[in-house]
Amino acid sequence: MAAVAATASGSPDYGLDAPRIVHSMFSRAAWIIAIALVLYFVNRSEYPGPAARMCGVLALIGLFFLAIGVDMVWSSRVAKLRLRDQLLDSLALRGDERILDVGCGRGLLAIGAAKRLKNGKVIGIDVWNPLDLSGNTPDAAKANVKMEGVADKVRIENGDAQKLVYPDNHYDVVVSSLVLHNIPEQDARAQAVREMVRVLKPGGKLAIFDLFRTGEYAEVLRASGAKDVELSKTSFFWCVPGRSLTARK
Ligand SMILES: C[S@@+](CC[C@H](N)C(=O)[O-])C[C@H]1O[C@@H](n2cnc3c(N)ncnc32)[C@H](O)[C@@H]1O
Repeated sequence: MAAVAATASGSPDYGLDAPRIVHSMFSRAAWIIAIALVLYFVNRSEYPGPAARMCGVLALIGLFFLAIGVDMVWSSRVAKLRLRDQLLDSLALRGDERILDVGCGRGLLAIGAAKRLKNGKVIGIDVWNPLDLSGNTPDAAKANVKMEGVADKVRIENGDAQKLVYPDNHYDVVVSSLVLHNIPEQDARAQAVREMVRVLKPGGKLAIFDLFRTGEYAEVLRASGAKDVELSKTSFFWCVPGRSLTARK
């Protein structure tokens, strides 16, 4: 697939992670708070004390779901940009690298990496699952590439993390954010990690951010012969544990 050529106007949109879950948190919050208010107004004249207590308890449950929804939006829109910068900083790029972003979505890491390159190139691949990221399409990624003015450095392609089509020892750097936990089977996740190592050049660098099972990936990396495998401290963006993982082939 050809890279997008020109620079477009507008602001890039890197999408909302797990949009269906976010939507369900807000709709639960709205329903529970609405039910709390209806029950309160129906019962307040006859049973003012119990009506107020029930309303308070239900409102707290509604606010709990609202807080999760707000946290998930903040994690996608604010925290993820900081995570991107930290992950890319950790790579100390020279500027001439060939980089693969596995599960690039709307291009967050691919574009961030491209902005740090002089004559290097980035390929972003994805299977474009709309449940993992809102508006998740190759066209949305290409539009962001254009808007960010890096069309000469980024190519967006279809590709599955478990079956990378690139030769062994091909990339200087492989990056991936929030992708592997979306692969349900442990063997398939391990296969995806092994593929990332396979396409890296000897001495090449790997940087992953993901939720939940980062320790599992570290084990696979060590078993695949990766060196300097390091896990960051645990963070709780999206209300669940996440860690960055860096390694070298
Ligand atoms: C939560 S989004 C994150 C996207 C992007 N990396 C970011 O940080 O904004 C997860 C992405 O992983 C992609 N994905 C899931 N399974 C994949 C697979 N087997 N191969 C490639 N991409 C995959 C989804 O389509 C989605 O774009």
